[in-house]
Amino acid sequence: MNPPPTAAEIGVIGGSGLYALLDDATEHVVDTPYGPPSDPVTVAEVGGRRVAFLPRHGRDHRFPPHRIPYRANLWALRSLGVRQIVAPCAVGGLRPELGPGTFVVPDQLIDRTSGREQTFYDSGAVHVSFADPYCPAGRATVLDSAARVNAVDGGTMVVVEGPRFSTRAESRWFASIGGTIVNMTGHPEAVLARELALCYTAIALVTDLDAGVEGDHGVTQKEVFSVFSGNTARLRDVLLDAVAKLPAERTCPCPDALTGIKLPFELP
Ligand code: ADE
Repeated sequence: MNPPPTAAEIGVIGGSGLYALLDDATEHVVDTPYGPPSDPVTVAEVGGRRVAFLPRHGRDHRFPPHRIPYRANLWALRSLGVRQIVAPCAVGGLRPELGPGTFVVPDQLIDRTSGREQTFYDSGAVHVSFADPYCPAGRATVLDSAARVNAVDGGTMVVVEGPRFSTRAESRWFASIGGTIVNMTGHPEAVLARELALCYTAIALVTDLDAGVEGDHGVTQKEVFSVFSGNTARLRDVLLDAVAKLPAERTCPCPDALTGIKLPFELP
């Protein structure tokens, strides 16, 4: 039997400047117990894999980072059958060597957001492990595809509440506690994916050096958007290669994130 046209196994959540990814896609309006996601989801086949694309901020960028319906986005993708997610995002570099145009596949995260809904489980005892926030198999695949853009393997993404950029003092502090890149959308997206037992891999594009990096002038929105759009073709190339190469069978720990835990409701 052919899968329904909405069915997809892989999801891509596009960041600032990446509002469309797939050619010949069908568009689907999805609803969730958490309201509608940021936009209709587009689904298409890439290299023999069914891929769903969702622009994180909406295609017209109407959702700022602190207003993105993160829970609805993750739930919507899972309800279409998605089990592995690749999540591109724009970041600031916290180290001088991570300049604009650098790609980073982070392996750690520091949450500095506040006031965002960051769990599906407001009742019962559901505590997922989050020591390693990103899928090891997804990271290996994305790194392989991103070798063509010399992506940096590993990094700690500090996620700030925004929507303002950081002060120089905050930025220097983030670097001093081990942060290597900084952004506004990496959390709670990563933990919500884990709470639905999904694989989640971030790929970060450095659009600016953050305010605390020696000799830099401070960050502007204009610079962030212009560097991101100047690199969209490279990013798209990496993403389309990676989604086709993600493992068909998940042997990573992600599918077992909820094993042995009594859930207060069924997952889609
Ligand atoms: N997104 C892109 N650049 C950023 C920065 N410097 N700080 C926070 N979020 C960002």
